[in-house]
Amino acid sequence: MLEKPEIYDKLGVEGFINWDNAEIFQEVVKITSPKSILEIGFYRGASAFFWLYFSQATLLSVDSMRWEFCSIENIQKLLNYFGNRFAFICEPSEKIRHRILQQKFDFVFIDGGHTPDIVSNDMQLAADLEPTYIFLDDVDHSILQIFNRIAGSKYDIVARYYRKTTKEFIPMFLTKRKTNIVDDHLVLNKIEKWERIFNHPIEIKDFWTKCKDKIRRLSFRYY
Ligand SMILES: C[S@@+](CC[C@H](N)C(=O)[O-])C[C@H]1O[C@@H](n2cnc3c(N)ncnc32)[C@H](O)[C@@H]1O
Repeated sequence: MLEKPEIYDKLGVEGFINWDNAEIFQEVVKITSPKSILEIGFYRGASAFFWLYFSQATLLSVDSMRWEFCSIENIQKLLNYFGNRFAFICEPSEKIRHRILQQKFDFVFIDGGHTPDIVSNDMQLAADLEPTYIFLDDVDHSILQIFNRIAGSKYDIVARYYRKTTKEFIPMFLTKRKTNIVDDHLVLNKIEKWERIFNHPIEIKDFWTKCKDKIRRLSFRYY
């Protein structure tokens, strides 16, 4: 059992996530060794505390702070305690795209609004940032579908955790960016370029397996 540091209770960050969940966060940090974390969903700061406490990473946390019992005071407490490793944007995640798309994150934690439109936005944002890991809280069937639709071709689920609450166990999925992502557009551009150079149809066995349908369609023009 992980020993709770005094500072945890002193900061009073507990909310949806609590000390019983600490080991999950510690293990995820151990597996992923994050350097720069984006978190969507601060609430009272428990997950933010865990990211900062268990890792050496910088953390940008985003929250519109509209839910009852969100704690603005706790943002200040974490700023005081963790200094410039912590930064916060108080905005809906739907409005931060232009502010963060140029930044580099190797880990994104999605725990903001849980409606399909907000989760879709957050998933798309995370996928576009291309972090090595995306960690999802509260994964039910509909969130899994959104994950599969938006990020499933680029990320694999590598671990599942079940965090304990007073009433139930909530599934959390750790996903990792695939190393061999085939970008259809790049592949097709390459094929068209080669076709122009050689001026005759070319057979590229490797690509046949990688993006079958598109190449097959294309090949009707060649043969
Ligand atoms: C489940 S709580 C996050 C729990 C937190 N990670 C913890 O450690 O306890 C969800 C948070 O997402 C925020 N939220 C909801 N919709 C949002 C949105 N569209 N953009 C940003 N934050 C949002 C809420 O204000 C709330 O604080």
